[in-house]
Amino acid sequence: MNPEKKSVPKEKVALAYSGGLDTSVAIKWMQDNYGCEVIAVCVDVGQPDDLNDAMRRAREIGASRSFVIDAKKEFVEEYIFPSLKANALYEGRYPLSTAISRPLIAKKLVEKALSLGATAVAHGCTAKGNDQVRFEVSFMSLAPELKIYAPTREWGMNRSEEVDYAEKHKLPCPVTKKSIYSIDESLWGRAAECGPLDDPWNEPPEDAFKWTSSPKDSPDKPDYVEIAFEKGIPVALDGKKVTGLELIKTLNELAGKHGIGRIDMIENRLVGIKSREVYECPAAVTLISAHADLETLVMTKDLLHYKRKMEQDYADLLYNGLWFSPLKESMDAFMDYTNQHVTGTVRMKLFKGSAVVVGRKSPLSLYDEGLVTYQTGDVFDHTSAKGFIYVWGLPSKVASVVKKKKAGDKGA
Ligand code: ARG
Repeated sequence: MNPEKKSVPKEKVALAYSGGLDTSVAIKWMQDNYGCEVIAVCVDVGQPDDLNDAMRRAREIGASRSFVIDAKKEFVEEYIFPSLKANALYEGRYPLSTAISRPLIAKKLVEKALSLGATAVAHGCTAKGNDQVRFEVSFMSLAPELKIYAPTREWGMNRSEEVDYAEKHKLPCPVTKKSIYSIDESLWGRAAECGPLDDPWNEPPEDAFKWTSSPKDSPDKPDYVEIAFEKGIPVALDGKKVTGLELIKTLNELAGKHGIGRIDMIENRLVGIKSREVYECPAAVTLISAHADLETLVMTKDLLHYKRKMEQDYADLLYNGLWFSPLKESMDAFMDYTNQHVTGTVRMKLFKGSAVVVGRKSPLSLYDEGLVTYQTGDVFDHTSAKGFIYVWGLPSKVASVVKKKKAGDKGA
């Protein structure tokens, strides 16, 4: 052995590994093309996959180490609940189930990378999606010193060539050319893309759904649930205290059984493309409807209207990968503050594809029966209405008088 010739230590790269095709191929491809050591990190945000099996496969493919990090509780408390407080729905419909999991996966990956002395992180996202942006902006914000690799963007293989690559190198990954949908799951929902869904005219085939039954096969009797909120956070179901994680799992099953939470939409991606997305978000849709409804009972009109506008900006921000940004932090302060009064109970009817609010109550309710009733007990001062309308309508009256006068002048 030549004592002069020291072996250069390999670069250590921590990869956000899912167990799917892209990241399985990425382990082998990065080793071969970058000559690096790959550490596979799988973050559990409630996706129903067998993550221990994924870990075993990562090592079989060649990862030097592999980890599963259970981040479900953090996901619920630090990611789902803030989104719920903001009723966050991208383009008014998508509860951001994929979008809000990415910053957390990035955070856990960065923590692991730094603790193991890795100098780079990697993800398996393609060049056409939003997730590459969400991952990389999160990496940049959390640990600007780490290098970022995106092998999927570089290798130039399409999906079927990836399957060939996996077969050629005997990589143990469950995907075959037959699996047509691209799926992403977290506790907050399931997203499906590709295959027959690529044509926006095609009705989603039943096999595109997994969490929800078709409303036509759902129970013929409704289920009623009572969801109690404290300061904007759901804390009890039917009078029984539950953890956020339990509540979301229960609602995913129960509302899913009633066919609730199916969303079929054309979505505007951050990268300029329109895509057809099919989501199943039973718990998210149920909880956001309940939460937003309770707000209508306890918030003043101007606050509520202002908040609804801000919610759209908040949803855009999450969609666009700016979770770790000063604007997001500032908006969270607003959402937390306005949610201080969102305490009470909402009664929902789950039936044939919809979750409908049928009752709401709160110790902080601003609803005053004495003001609204036409029956006895009316406390509204009827004499005030006339003066109010005079002042309220005055600007329009003045403008109209001037307009009419001008038209008269021209005609003359
Ligand atoms: N379009 C959604 C988003 O950008 C979901 C993407 C889900 N990914 C998938 N492979 N189906 O958040």
